Amino acid sequence: MMNILVLNGPNLNLLGTRQPEVYGSTTLAMVEEACIAHGKAADMDVSCFQTNHEGALIDQIHAAKGQKHGIILNAGAYTHTSIALMDAISSVELPVVEVHLSNIHAREAFRHKSYIAPVALGQICGFGAQGYILALDALKAHLSKGEVK
Ligand code: DQA
Repeated sequence: MMNILVLNGPNLNLLGTRQPEVYGSTTLAMVEEACIAHGKAADMDVSCFQTNHEGALIDQIHAAKGQKHGIILNAGAYTHTSIALMDAISSVELPVVEVHLSNIHAREAFRHKSYIAPVALGQICGFGAQGYILALDALKAHLSKGEVK
């Protein structure tokens, strides 16, 4: 059984009411429920965590080492600023799929830069809440090439 962590960063607790024209009307609870349900159907044990704090994201990434097989990460605005998050991902050597609801490359220039992308398995952006499901499938396909059953 694959153990997957879905990790969401700052302001994503406000999904559903936060700029719905950009991020959609799906709430974080709905996203997390969909991830857990999709995981069950695909033989993945999915756990979810959201925090507005950079250090808490780093703590979660560290704690995932040896416990999880991979991470789905939407680091929110820390994506564009946090070398510490990038270093945390490099340190644990776990596959990370970077997710954004919006297409960050079609938005303001400061959102084009991702510190996560160079250390991620890949990036999925622009597909709204569906991106998390796509990310789970991508991670499963990646892990299925390895040892995990
Ligand atoms: C986001 C994109 C980021 O630029 C922004 O700061 C967010 C959400 C997204 O999911 O589209 O908080 O990560």
